[in-house]
Amino acid sequence: MMLDNDYQDIRSLGAKMADKSLSPLAAKIDEESEIPESVVKELKDNGLMGIFIPEEYGGAGLDEVAYAILVEEISRGCASTGVLLSAHNSLCIAPIINSGNEEQKKKYLPKLATGEYIGCFCLSEPNAGSDAGSLTTFAEDKNDHYLLSGTKNFITNGREAHLAIVFAKTTKTPNHKGISAFIVEMKQAGITIPKLEDKLGIRGSSTAQIFFDKVKVPKENLLGPFEKGFSIAMKTLDGGRIGIAAQAVGIARAAYEYALRYSKTREQFGGPISNLQAIQILIADMSTRLQAARLLTYEAAHCKRKGESYSKQAAQAKLFASEMAMWVTTKAIQICGGNGYTKEYPLERHFRDAKITEIYEGTSEIQRLVIAAHELKEASS
Ligand code: CAA
Repeated sequence: MMLDNDYQDIRSLGAKMADKSLSPLAAKIDEESEIPESVVKELKDNGLMGIFIPEEYGGAGLDEVAYAILVEEISRGCASTGVLLSAHNSLCIAPIINSGNEEQKKKYLPKLATGEYIGCFCLSEPNAGSDAGSLTTFAEDKNDHYLLSGTKNFITNGREAHLAIVFAKTTKTPNHKGISAFIVEMKQAGITIPKLEDKLGIRGSSTAQIFFDKVKVPKENLLGPFEKGFSIAMKTLDGGRIGIAAQAVGIARAAYEYALRYSKTREQFGGPISNLQAIQILIADMSTRLQAARLLTYEAAHCKRKGESYSKQAAQAKLFASEMAMWVTTKAIQICGGNGYTKEYPLERHFRDAKITEIYEGTSEIQRLVIAAHELKEASS
């Protein structure tokens, strides 16, 4: 796909960081379960902590296509860093841009843009995963403030976050009705992290359980209309899914490009294995599926950029790209045989990192529900 010059510049910026800083550190980040401060500083110095934030609030003012390109390149270098970047921008910043009032934007966007504040998104709970509407965290109205109590699960960036978008019931209902969204400052009394998850992949990205115990939230930190929080969450996840699709493309590319280079240097049966048709067929299928996933991702990003509906396109991109990433990383290991299965090679890490893209911000099954609902609605209109 032809990209105009601005996007080429964005890709070069992300690619340079991936090749020079991230790829050499990615195994260490995985091993030590931590992204070094130098990496976060480089993201900040390059203005990547506020990709969508309009320039008037100190951000880069870029669009969704630029975001998808950047997340792909950064995730190609290090999947954990791609997750940090993606969750901060699409799950915390985007809902403030889309649903925040002017005071909220002025107060929080400049700090998020510089990376002084890292953001997270608190929707899931121990008993509310795919069925997000059944959450039970409660915000009690105390006239000039709310008191927020409950437990949130699997929160990306939870360890680092200074600011969270938290979804809580303001009326006790068994379904999504009665959910409101709040902007919550995380460094305050009543917020604790009882558990950091020990995960299969994206080990450098923190995944926290967060406990809110009567946390004081000022009334002015209600985000969007009262009890319209579920729609804000769903809209945010629509955008987030473009980021997950881009992560999946980046992870798959890292594995594919490694296996491709390996096939040209590994000699068996009297020559490089890339001479063998069995390998060539894999190369053709891997590169084709990768390109299809990338184009679906750009299609969703373009729809969002143009202000068109993109919920179905984002779900399709995430569904296809995440399943593609599992397939491509598996085949990359296959090309490298026994070597690919060892920790000396990066492929087992790419394989582990790819798996999460089929799970978070809605499993593949949830994406299928969303796509089918749109298809059926379109067919009856
Ligand atoms: N945009 C805006 N509003 C939307 C919407 C969208 N894409 N989709 C649904 N809505 C609105 C509907 O219009 C409806 O509004 P009204 O009540 O006003 O009519 C309301 O939401 C309920 O819609 P549904 O009946 O379709 O909702 P549902 O309860 O059946 O759920 C679902 C649908 C697709 C299963 C949804 O619950 C879902 O996406 N679940 C997955 C949640 C998920 O991805 N969780 C992971 C979060 S990530 C996290 O928390 C941690 C992290 O750091 C990554």
